[in-house]
Amino acid sequence: MIVILDFGSQYSELIARRIRETSVYSEVVSYRTTAAQLRQIAPKGIILSGGPNSVYDDQAPACDPEIWELGIPVLGVCYGMQLMVKQLGGQVERASRGEYGKASLLIDDPTDLLTNVENTATMWMSHGDSVTQLPGGFKTLAHTTNTPCAAIADDQRHFYGVQFHPEVVHSIGGQALIRNFVYHICGCEPTWTTAAFVDEAIREVRAKVGDKRVLLALSGGVDSSTLAFLLHQAIGDQLTCMFIDQGFMRKYEPERLVKLFQEQFHIPVVYVNARERFLAQVVGITDPEEKRRRIGHEFIQVFEEESNRLGPFDYLAQGTLYPDVIESANTNIDPKTGERVAVKIKSHHNVGGLPPNLRFKLVEPLRKLFKDEVREVGRSLGLPDEIVRRHPFPGPGLAIRIIGEITPERLDILRDADLIVRQEINRSETYHQLWQAFAVLLPVRSVGVMGDQRTYAYPIVLRLVSSEDGMTADWSRVPYELLETISNRIVNEVPGVNRVVYDITSKPPGTIEWE
Ligand code: XMP
Repeated sequence: MIVILDFGSQYSELIARRIRETSVYSEVVSYRTTAAQLRQIAPKGIILSGGPNSVYDDQAPACDPEIWELGIPVLGVCYGMQLMVKQLGGQVERASRGEYGKASLLIDDPTDLLTNVENTATMWMSHGDSVTQLPGGFKTLAHTTNTPCAAIADDQRHFYGVQFHPEVVHSIGGQALIRNFVYHICGCEPTWTTAAFVDEAIREVRAKVGDKRVLLALSGGVDSSTLAFLLHQAIGDQLTCMFIDQGFMRKYEPERLVKLFQEQFHIPVVYVNARERFLAQVVGITDPEEKRRRIGHEFIQVFEEESNRLGPFDYLAQGTLYPDVIESANTNIDPKTGERVAVKIKSHHNVGGLPPNLRFKLVEPLRKLFKDEVREVGRSLGLPDEIVRRHPFPGPGLAIRIIGEITPERLDILRDADLIVRQEINRSETYHQLWQAFAVLLPVRSVGVMGDQRTYAYPIVLRLVSSEDGMTADWSRVPYELLETISNRIVNEVPGVNRVVYDITSKPPGTIEWE
């Protein structure tokens, strides 16, 4: 295993994902993790991540200096390299010119860490400070025009540092560098594979659950579906899958989901029709956060009632993923105080996002996995592409895509418009290039003309975005013809809509959903 000490970089998780892509298990832990704790974890290598601070800030986060005595190879990335240099007696200074964006790596020593990395390879840089003097025992492996020490090594003690970010996709040869560190320097074995994970997860679930019953709230997304497959394989009919229909799903989705699971996958699903109840909760509510709160609350109510009716259950299965359990996920370190801060933009409600005080014990077999690994596991268990590659869909569903008040009429309009968006996206084969594609209904009306008649009806907003992870996103430059077809069909086929507009806002400053 490789452990990443997180100093607050937005890329810490990405480093872990890149390492796992080499079939080696990797975890992100706080920079405060002590050398004694690391000795317990016994990783084959340690990576110090980047971070927003300067090593000379008053509150700059630092690692336990005992780490240098563990005898474990260390790779410092950006801030991590500067910290290594400072702690081991070298010098870091504010550079006269920072380096941001792509830079050409000029290799001085093409051995170990830089094996198979081409001279002049493009690497992604983002730093204001630079190393100006190496600690004893270190040598320079590579430089760039602006940065004399772009890659450094003490190959006796197996300490390495890179000023650039090998983990980002723009760094050509970055993955080769990571492989060199993981395999040649740390001596890891490629044991982190989907098949090995599935075997172990099944064994662990069986050992934990014994002959007890497990309840799972199925949403139809890739996480809960993969969980259902995994648990069904592990414990068969000790598993009960419950699907709560809130009435905010896309057109035909609830029926399709239940049919798929029952008839094709032979996994029984208890279908709970709670449409009226949820609608009653949101009538007259226009505030986005209040909508989310009410829907989340109602979900828990229904869930409790139904689990009492169907139970008793000892365990609740949750599709918790690794980014949810990393203590530092989605937080930043305040440069002034050194404390972690997280800014709440929206309170996400997830299906299965239940409060911890329910009386169940939890089974969370996916908690070590990143999303792309869940997809691999799902695929290996036989989940069809239709689910494995499905776009994300928010827990509150169409309720947060009707801006303002939700009414049955508006739900019907949005469902019909949204179905057309999906049909045309599928037909044009752009589905897999997009992160999400959907319609939003605005609570205003505008004037139009159809035939010789004046119309006064709602506009539909098309939101088609590309993204890597949902944290940032860009509006998609799909062909005008596709937009035209969607617009024509919606205006002609969906009564109550007379105008279609295209949202050309990136995230940030917009968010993907409108509420
Ligand atoms: P935003 O709108 O914050 O969305 O840019 C980022 C991603 O999260 C999804 N999203 C949600 N998912 N419950 C969810 O399960 C929610 O309440 C929720 N709100 C937004 C959104 O669809 C996008 O993929």
